Amino acid sequence: MPASPTATPEHIKDVNARYHDAAADEYDAKWGIDFGATGQEQVRLKLVKALGGLGGRSFGDGLEIGSGTGYFSLNLLQLGVIERLTATDISAGMLSRLSATAEALGLEASTVATEAEQLPFEDESFDIVFGHAVLHHIPDLDRAFAEFRRVLRPGGAIAFCGEPSRHGDRLAAVPKRAAAIAAPAWRGLVRARRRAVAESERSNGHALEGEVDVHAFAAADLRRLLRDAGFEDRRVGGEELLANAWGWGLRTVESTAEPDSVPCGWRRFAFRSYIALQKVDTRLFEPRLPAELFYNLLTSGRKPA
Ligand SMILES: C[S@@+](CC[C@H](N)C(=O)[O-])C[C@H]1O[C@@H](n2cnc3c(N)ncnc32)[C@H](O)[C@@H]1O
Repeated sequence: MPASPTATPEHIKDVNARYHDAAADEYDAKWGIDFGATGQEQVRLKLVKALGGLGGRSFGDGLEIGSGTGYFSLNLLQLGVIERLTATDISAGMLSRLSATAEALGLEASTVATEAEQLPFEDESFDIVFGHAVLHHIPDLDRAFAEFRRVLRPGGAIAFCGEPSRHGDRLAAVPKRAAAIAAPAWRGLVRARRRAVAESERSNGHALEGEVDVHAFAAADLRRLLRDAGFEDRRVGGEELLANAWGWGLRTVESTAEPDSVPCGWRRFAFRSYIALQKVDTRLFEPRLPAELFYNLLTSGRKPA
């Protein structure tokens, strides 16, 4: 359920900060976030799709918007696609997880708690501004895109991936419903215990989940944002069809069980099957079907030199 149309921008940002602070500790496990070779390859592929190729290019100063626990930026840093990272997020809790992971991986990452619509950086400070699954949380996207352009150096790139498409958002409701019905049988099959939802979790921000999303996009919405902010070489593409439906089904059944009672064998199967379906989407569907049919949209542009 998206945020109420009458919710003020301040309320939406406050809810986002509180919800993501509360979600930070379980975030990587919930979304299967990986900082090894698999995660790096996933992120590299997404950026390649968004930019229409990388061609061995690397970016000096990278700014991530809504970096969360670092799925995108720490993997890009490990790959050498960005040389220096400034990770920003409205949630200090997410950034502190990112810092801990960066330290464990031996990476240097500067973190700044800030909202996307008002960035505390000098003009022309970065070579790439990027993000994953964040634009749909930002109330005033025109303002945010103007900020992205301001802090980019001339010729710099903007790239955002993992944004929900309007059509995909509706499609995701089907596997979620089917998985909710199948969940008791699934728990019996894998011998997982039913999750008791603690009241502490609700008061902690988890109950805010339905209020954090503000937008689902048509490809044309993203093209307009890029154009109005003055970006050139504008691109919008789509990714993940089967993988996403399967992924929502997996997450829905798993969310009904106590995490420590879900067997490792199941987790391995779930992860591998998701990656296999991603490959089918990439090879078979993405080159042939229109962007709006997919669950995720990717977009990129370039600030004029
Ligand atoms: C769905 S999470 C994605 C996190 C990370 N990019 C990833 O892919 O794992 C969205 C992130 O955007 C952040 N966020 C939400 N609203 C924001 C805003 N207005 N400005 C900056 N960050 C925001 C949230 O705190 C959260 O960490």
